[in-house]
Amino acid sequence: MTKPSAIKKVAEHLKNYPEAKVIFMVGAGISTSCGIPDFRSPETGLYHNLAKLNLPFAEAVFDVDYFDKNPQPFYTLARELYPGNFKPSKFHYLMKLFEKNNRLQRIYTQNIDTLEHQALIHESYVIEAHGSFSRNHCIKCSKEYPLEKFKSKLKIDEIDFEDSDRTEFDYAKCDDCGGLVKPAIVFFGEGLPSRFFDTWEEDQEWFLNEKEKNHLVLIAGTSLTVYPFASLPEEVPSEIRRALINKELVGDFKTFPRKEDIIFHGNVDDAARELAAELGWLADLEALAAE
Ligand code: OAD
Ligand code: ZN
Repeated sequence: MTKPSAIKKVAEHLKNYPEAKVIFMVGAGISTSCGIPDFRSPETGLYHNLAKLNLPFAEAVFDVDYFDKNPQPFYTLARELYPGNFKPSKFHYLMKLFEKNNRLQRIYTQNIDTLEHQALIHESYVIEAHGSFSRNHCIKCSKEYPLEKFKSKLKIDEIDFEDSDRTEFDYAKCDDCGGLVKPAIVFFGEGLPSRFFDTWEEDQEWFLNEKEKNHLVLIAGTSLTVYPFASLPEEVPSEIRRALINKELVGDFKTFPRKEDIIFHGNVDDAARELAAELGWLADLEALAAE
Protein backbone atom coordinates (compact mmCIF):
# COMPACT_ATOMS: atom_id res chain seq x y z
CA MET A 1 0.00 0.00 0.00
CA THR A 2 1.35 3.43 -0.88
CA LYS A 3 1.33 6.18 1.73
CA PRO A 4 -1.49 8.71 1.23
CA SER A 5 -0.26 12.06 -0.07
CA ALA A 6 -0.22 15.00 2.31
CA ILE A 7 -3.26 16.51 0.61
CA LYS A 8 -5.16 13.24 0.94
CA LYS A 9 -4.41 13.35 4.66
CA VAL A 10 -5.89 16.86 4.89
CA ALA A 11 -8.96 15.68 2.97
CA GLU A 12 -9.33 12.59 5.15
CA HIS A 13 -9.19 14.73 8.27
CA LEU A 14 -11.93 16.99 6.90
CA LYS A 15 -14.06 14.01 5.89
CA ASN A 16 -13.55 12.16 9.17
CA TYR A 17 -14.55 15.24 11.17
CA PRO A 18 -17.41 16.85 9.23
CA GLU A 19 -17.78 19.61 11.81
CA ALA A 20 -14.09 20.59 11.59
CA LYS A 21 -13.39 24.05 10.22
CA VAL A 22 -10.15 25.48 8.92
CA ILE A 23 -8.07 28.49 9.89
CA PHE A 24 -5.76 29.54 7.05
CA MET A 25 -2.50 31.41 7.68
CA VAL A 26 -1.10 32.62 4.39
CA GLY A 27 1.59 34.73 2.76
CA ALA A 28 2.93 35.96 -0.57
CA GLY A 29 3.33 32.42 -1.98
CA ILE A 30 -0.45 32.15 -2.57
CA SER A 31 -0.30 35.13 -4.96
CA THR A 32 2.84 34.39 -6.99
CA SER A 33 0.79 32.60 -9.67
CA CYS A 34 -1.26 35.81 -10.04
CA GLY A 35 1.91 37.56 -11.21
CA ILE A 36 2.75 39.20 -7.88
CA PRO A 37 6.29 38.36 -6.78
CA ASP A 38 6.86 37.14 -3.22
CA PHE A 39 9.50 38.77 -1.05
CA ARG A 40 12.18 36.21 -0.27
CA SER A 41 12.36 33.68 -3.11
CA PRO A 42 15.87 33.77 -4.60
CA GLU A 43 15.99 35.50 -8.05
CA THR A 44 12.24 36.21 -8.34
CA GLY A 45 11.51 37.70 -4.89
CA LEU A 46 10.96 41.46 -4.49
CA TYR A 47 13.82 41.89 -2.06
CA HIS A 48 16.25 40.47 -4.61
CA ASN A 49 14.87 42.71 -7.32
CA LEU A 50 14.92 45.85 -5.20
CA ALA A 51 18.68 46.00 -5.67
CA LYS A 52 18.05 48.42 -8.55
CA LEU A 53 16.59 50.94 -6.10
CA ASN A 54 19.88 51.28 -4.21
CA LEU A 55 18.37 50.60 -0.82
CA PRO A 56 20.76 50.33 2.15
CA PHE A 57 19.03 46.98 2.92
CA ALA A 58 16.07 45.39 1.13
CA GLU A 59 13.58 45.70 3.96
CA ALA A 60 14.21 49.48 4.13
CA VAL A 61 11.40 49.75 1.58
CA PHE A 62 9.02 49.00 4.48
CA ASP A 63 10.84 51.13 7.07
CA VAL A 64 9.12 54.30 8.28
CA ASP A 65 12.30 56.29 8.97
CA TYR A 66 13.72 55.40 5.59
CA PHE A 67 10.38 56.22 3.91
CA ASP A 68 10.38 59.65 5.58
CA LYS A 69 13.81 60.37 4.05
CA ASN A 70 13.24 58.69 0.69
CA PRO A 71 9.72 57.61 -0.31
CA GLN A 72 10.74 56.78 -3.91
CA PRO A 73 11.43 53.03 -3.39
CA PHE A 74 8.11 52.48 -1.61
CA TYR A 75 6.20 54.37 -4.31
CA THR A 76 7.89 52.25 -6.95
CA LEU A 77 7.05 49.03 -5.14
CA ALA A 78 3.51 50.17 -4.36
CA ARG A 79 2.82 50.71 -8.05
CA GLU A 80 3.91 47.14 -8.77
CA LEU A 81 1.77 45.70 -6.00
CA TYR A 82 -1.21 48.03 -6.24
CA PRO A 83 -4.49 46.09 -5.97
CA GLY A 84 -6.72 46.01 -9.01
CA ASN A 85 -4.27 44.71 -11.55
CA PHE A 86 -4.45 41.06 -10.53
CA LYS A 87 -6.86 38.11 -10.38
CA PRO A 88 -7.06 35.70 -7.42
CA SER A 89 -5.25 32.34 -7.64
CA LYS A 90 -6.74 28.85 -7.40
CA PHE A 91 -5.68 28.86 -3.78
CA HIS A 92 -7.72 32.01 -3.06
CA TYR A 93 -10.74 30.35 -4.69
CA LEU A 94 -10.18 27.21 -2.63
CA MET A 95 -10.46 29.38 0.49
CA LYS A 96 -13.67 30.85 -0.96
CA LEU A 97 -15.03 27.30 -1.31
CA PHE A 98 -14.24 26.61 2.34
CA GLU A 99 -16.44 29.61 3.13
CA LYS A 100 -19.17 28.48 0.74
CA ASN A 101 -19.22 24.98 2.26
CA ASN A 102 -19.31 26.34 5.80
CA ARG A 103 -15.86 24.94 6.63
CA LEU A 104 -14.04 28.26 7.08
CA GLN A 105 -13.27 29.79 10.46
CA ARG A 106 -10.70 32.47 9.51
CA ILE A 107 -7.98 33.60 7.12
CA TYR A 108 -4.94 35.31 8.61
CA THR A 109 -3.14 36.88 5.67
CA GLN A 110 0.14 38.76 5.51
CA ASN A 111 -0.68 39.90 2.01
CA ILE A 112 -1.53 43.47 1.09
CA ASP A 113 -2.86 42.58 -2.36
CA THR A 114 -6.52 42.27 -1.15
CA LEU A 115 -7.04 39.20 -3.37
CA GLU A 116 -9.08 37.50 -0.61
CA HIS A 117 -11.50 40.40 -1.02
CA GLN A 118 -11.44 40.07 -4.81
CA ALA A 119 -12.23 36.36 -4.43
CA LEU A 120 -15.39 37.62 -2.64
CA ILE A 121 -14.56 36.07 0.72
CA HIS A 122 -16.60 37.90 3.34
CA GLU A 123 -14.49 40.42 5.26
CA SER A 124 -15.50 39.00 8.65
CA TYR A 125 -13.29 35.97 7.89
CA VAL A 126 -10.24 37.88 6.72
CA ILE A 127 -7.60 39.35 9.01
CA GLU A 128 -5.19 41.55 7.06
CA ALA A 129 -2.31 41.24 9.52
CA HIS A 130 -0.05 43.62 7.60
CA GLY A 131 -2.78 46.08 6.70
CA SER A 132 -3.67 47.14 3.17
CA PHE A 133 -3.74 50.03 0.73
CA SER A 134 -7.36 50.81 1.54
CA ARG A 135 -6.61 53.79 3.83
CA ASN A 136 -3.81 56.35 4.08
CA HIS A 137 -2.49 58.47 6.93
CA CYS A 138 0.06 61.20 7.52
CA ILE A 139 3.12 59.68 9.26
CA LYS A 140 3.51 62.79 11.45
CA CYS A 141 -0.01 63.72 12.66
CA SER A 142 -1.98 60.60 11.56
CA LYS A 143 -4.56 62.64 9.62
CA GLU A 144 -6.39 60.49 7.08
CA TYR A 145 -5.77 61.18 3.41
CA PRO A 146 -8.29 60.36 0.65
CA LEU A 147 -7.65 57.09 -1.15
CA GLU A 148 -8.26 58.43 -4.65
CA LYS A 149 -5.90 61.32 -4.06
CA PHE A 150 -3.14 58.96 -2.93
CA LYS A 151 -3.74 56.72 -5.90
CA SER A 152 -3.38 59.67 -8.27
CA LYS A 153 0.00 60.47 -6.68
CA LEU A 154 1.15 56.94 -7.41
CA LYS A 155 0.25 57.56 -11.04
CA ILE A 156 -1.32 54.12 -11.26
CA ASP A 157 -3.07 55.02 -14.47
CA GLU A 158 0.10 55.99 -16.30
CA ILE A 159 2.33 53.07 -15.51
CA ASP A 160 5.02 52.57 -18.05
CA PHE A 161 5.98 49.04 -17.14
CA GLU A 162 9.06 49.22 -19.35
CA ASP A 163 10.46 52.03 -17.31
CA SER A 164 8.59 51.96 -14.03
CA ASP A 165 11.45 52.96 -11.76
CA ARG A 166 12.21 56.20 -13.53
CA THR A 167 8.92 57.89 -12.71
CA GLU A 168 9.23 61.18 -10.84
CA PHE A 169 6.64 61.24 -8.11
CA ASP A 170 4.77 64.12 -6.65
CA TYR A 171 4.55 62.63 -3.16
CA ALA A 172 1.34 62.68 -1.15
CA LYS A 173 1.71 65.20 1.71
CA CYS A 174 -0.58 66.06 4.59
CA ASP A 175 -2.62 69.26 4.13
CA ASP A 176 -2.24 70.11 7.82
CA CYS A 177 1.41 69.48 8.66
CA GLY A 178 3.15 68.63 5.39
CA GLY A 179 4.13 65.15 6.63
CA LEU A 180 4.36 62.34 4.14
CA VAL A 181 1.28 60.20 3.66
CA LYS A 182 1.57 56.42 3.76
CA PRO A 183 -0.96 53.63 3.16
CA ALA A 184 -2.09 51.63 6.18
CA ILE A 185 0.41 48.87 5.42
CA VAL A 186 2.30 47.71 8.50
CA PHE A 187 5.93 48.77 8.14
CA PHE A 188 8.78 47.27 10.18
CA GLY A 189 8.69 48.68 13.70
CA GLU A 190 4.95 49.42 13.53
CA GLY A 191 2.28 47.54 15.46
CA LEU A 192 -0.15 45.17 13.78
CA PRO A 193 -3.88 46.09 13.75
CA SER A 194 -5.60 45.36 17.07
CA ARG A 195 -8.09 43.18 15.17
CA PHE A 196 -5.25 40.74 14.49
CA PHE A 197 -4.52 40.22 18.21
CA ASP A 198 -8.17 40.29 19.34
CA THR A 199 -9.33 37.78 16.77
CA TRP A 200 -6.42 35.43 17.36
CA GLU A 201 -7.25 35.42 21.08
CA GLU A 202 -10.88 34.56 20.24
CA ASP A 203 -9.82 31.85 17.81
CA GLN A 204 -7.50 30.24 20.32
CA GLU A 205 -10.40 29.99 22.79
CA TRP A 206 -12.64 28.67 20.04
CA PHE A 207 -10.19 25.83 19.35
CA LEU A 208 -10.23 24.78 22.98
CA ASN A 209 -13.98 25.14 23.46
CA GLU A 210 -14.63 22.94 20.45
CA LYS A 211 -11.83 20.44 20.88
CA GLU A 212 -13.96 17.47 19.92
CA LYS A 213 -14.63 18.96 16.48
CA ASN A 214 -10.95 18.61 15.55
CA HIS A 215 -10.52 21.90 13.73
CA LEU A 216 -7.52 22.25 11.43
CA VAL A 217 -4.91 24.94 10.72
CA LEU A 218 -3.59 25.24 7.19
CA ILE A 219 -0.49 27.36 6.60
CA ALA A 220 0.45 28.19 3.02
CA GLY A 221 2.83 30.26 0.92
CA THR A 222 4.80 31.93 3.67
CA SER A 223 8.42 31.78 4.81
CA LEU A 224 7.25 32.43 8.42
CA THR A 225 10.06 34.93 8.97
CA VAL A 226 8.19 38.07 10.00
CA TYR A 227 6.97 38.31 13.61
CA PRO A 228 4.52 38.35 15.28
CA PHE A 229 2.71 36.58 12.43
CA ALA A 230 5.39 33.88 12.28
CA SER A 231 4.59 32.83 15.84
CA LEU A 232 0.94 31.94 15.10
CA PRO A 233 1.69 28.30 14.13
CA GLU A 234 3.56 27.66 17.37
CA GLU A 235 0.64 29.16 19.33
CA VAL A 236 -1.81 26.66 17.83
CA PRO A 237 -2.85 24.42 20.75
CA SER A 238 -1.09 21.05 20.65
CA GLU A 239 -4.43 19.21 20.28
CA ILE A 240 -5.09 20.96 16.97
CA ARG A 241 -3.62 19.51 13.81
CA ARG A 242 -1.49 21.71 11.55
CA ALA A 243 -0.73 21.38 7.83
CA LEU A 244 1.88 23.24 5.77
CA ILE A 245 1.52 23.76 2.02
CA ASN A 246 4.71 25.39 0.78
CA LYS A 247 7.64 24.99 -1.58
CA GLU A 248 10.01 24.75 1.39
CA LEU A 249 9.89 23.64 4.99
CA VAL A 250 9.60 26.74 7.20
CA GLY A 251 9.27 28.17 10.72
CA ASP A 252 7.91 26.04 13.51
CA PHE A 253 7.41 23.10 11.13
CA LYS A 254 11.19 22.99 10.82
CA THR A 255 12.29 23.91 14.34
CA PHE A 256 9.58 22.26 16.45
CA PRO A 257 7.75 19.80 14.21
CA ARG A 258 4.79 18.02 15.78
CA LYS A 259 4.10 14.33 15.28
CA GLU A 260 0.71 14.99 13.66
CA ASP A 261 1.87 17.79 11.30
CA ILE A 262 1.00 17.30 7.64
CA ILE A 263 3.57 18.65 5.16
CA PHE A 264 2.91 19.21 1.46
CA HIS A 265 6.09 20.27 -0.37
CA GLY A 266 4.99 21.92 -3.58
CA ASN A 267 2.91 24.48 -5.37
CA VAL A 268 -0.11 25.98 -3.58
CA ASP A 269 -2.32 25.89 -6.69
CA ASP A 270 -1.57 22.20 -7.27
CA ALA A 271 -2.50 21.57 -3.66
CA ALA A 272 -5.71 23.61 -4.10
CA ARG A 273 -6.71 21.54 -7.12
CA GLU A 274 -5.97 18.24 -5.43
CA LEU A 275 -7.78 19.18 -2.23
CA ALA A 276 -10.81 20.50 -4.14
CA ALA A 277 -10.93 17.22 -6.09
CA GLU A 278 -10.73 15.15 -2.90
CA LEU A 279 -13.55 17.17 -1.34
CA GLY A 280 -15.77 17.06 -4.44
CA TRP A 281 -15.35 20.79 -5.11
CA LEU A 282 -13.27 20.64 -8.29
CA ALA A 283 -16.00 21.78 -10.71
CA ASP A 284 -16.75 24.73 -8.42
CA LEU A 285 -13.07 25.61 -8.24
CA GLU A 286 -12.64 25.53 -12.01
CA ALA A 287 -15.79 27.62 -12.47
CA LEU A 288 -14.55 30.30 -10.06
CA ALA A 289 -11.09 30.36 -11.62
CA ALA A 290 -12.57 30.67 -15.12
CA GLU A 291 -14.64 33.77 -14.29
P1 OAD B 1 8.08 35.36 1.60
O1 OAD B 1 8.50 35.84 0.25
O2 OAD B 1 8.99 35.62 2.73
O3 OAD B 1 7.79 33.79 1.55
C1 OAD B 1 7.01 33.19 0.54
C2 OAD B 1 7.06 31.68 0.74
O4 OAD B 1 6.17 31.07 -0.19
C3 OAD B 1 8.44 31.06 0.51
O5 OAD B 1 8.67 30.06 1.47
C4 OAD B 1 8.32 30.44 -0.91
O6 OAD B 1 9.12 29.28 -1.07
C5 OAD B 1 6.86 30.06 -0.93
N1 OAD B 1 6.22 30.07 -2.26
C6 OAD B 1 6.30 31.01 -3.23
N2 OAD B 1 5.52 30.71 -4.28
C7 OAD B 1 4.92 29.53 -3.99
C8 OAD B 1 3.99 28.67 -4.66
N3 OAD B 1 3.51 28.97 -5.87
N4 OAD B 1 3.61 27.52 -4.04
C9 OAD B 1 4.09 27.19 -2.80
N5 OAD B 1 4.96 27.96 -2.13
C10 OAD B 1 5.37 29.12 -2.69
O7 OAD B 1 6.61 35.99 1.86
P2 OAD B 1 5.83 36.14 3.25
O8 OAD B 1 6.13 35.00 4.15
O9 OAD B 1 4.42 36.43 2.93
O10 OAD B 1 5.58 42.48 4.74
O11 OAD B 1 6.51 37.46 3.82
C11 OAD B 1 6.10 38.00 5.05
C12 OAD B 1 6.16 39.51 5.06
O12 OAD B 1 7.48 39.94 4.68
C13 OAD B 1 5.27 40.18 4.04
O13 OAD B 1 3.95 40.34 4.52
C14 OAD B 1 5.94 41.50 3.77
C15 OAD B 1 7.40 41.14 3.88
O14 OAD B 1 8.21 42.09 4.48
C16 OAD B 1 4.79 43.53 4.31
O15 OAD B 1 4.31 43.57 3.21
C17 OAD B 1 4.52 44.58 5.30
ZN1 ZN C 1 -0.07 65.55 9.09
